[in-house]
Amino acid sequence: MLKYILYVVVSAAVLALVCGGVHLLKVALKNKKEMAQYETVNETKVKPLGKVLVVYYSLSGHTKEIAEIISQKTGADLYEIEVSPKIEQNALMYMKVKKQLQEKKYPKLAKPLPDFSQYDMIFVGAPVWWYTIATPGFAFLQEADFAGKKVVPFSTQGSNYGSFFEDFAKNARNGEILTSANFNNLPESYAKAVDNKITQWLNSL
Ligand SMILES: Cc1cc2nc3c(=O)[nH]c(=O)nc-3n(C[C@H](O)[C@H](O)[C@H](O)COP(=O)(O)O)c2cc1C
Repeated sequence: MLKYILYVVVSAAVLALVCGGVHLLKVALKNKKEMAQYETVNETKVKPLGKVLVVYYSLSGHTKEIAEIISQKTGADLYEIEVSPKIEQNALMYMKVKKQLQEKKYPKLAKPLPDFSQYDMIFVGAPVWWYTIATPGFAFLQEADFAGKKVVPFSTQGSNYGSFFEDFAKNARNGEILTSANFNNLPESYAKAVDNKITQWLNSL
């Protein structure tokens, strides 16, 4: 009996490893194909976009990196969404934020919203959590009123942004929403292609 249980457990573990490996391989190939189109872009200048603000939330640094590149290319001010208590990344947190998303109960913002009045365009970026906007991003959207502003959403994710942008459009009050962009987590070797992708996107706005 014990031998049988062991056999089932080992088989399940091997299957999970194989499926995980195949998924990672598929994602890597998809990333390679997507980024190939940005490898050789010669567009380096970004057109003036007026006075720009980049709002972002980032737990492990990916969204922050993209936000900083946008800011550097557009001369934008940066505003980091912070929540209280601060969210720590651990195994329990995955289930906790899933429940918050299901119940639409978002964390408390730790500081006042920025003054939008001085900006023409506001970028809002967040990680994808459970195929939608990370809970601090939702908390920000609940408070924000973008009346009279151009709003540009962006996401970072492992590989699947799910309903992030539909949910963004439903929750961003009163803004004129422009073309979004999404960024998969990529190895450092794609840094130039990511930079080019951002330049092209900014010039398309
Ligand atoms: C709670 C949680 C849920 C996540 N859900 C998804 C998801 O549904 N799809 C996806 O592609 N990546 C998902 N990820 C990965 C993050 O979106 C990705 O690593 C993101 O770039 C992290 O951004 P940050 O470094 O700015 O925090 C999830 C990460 C966490 C912590």
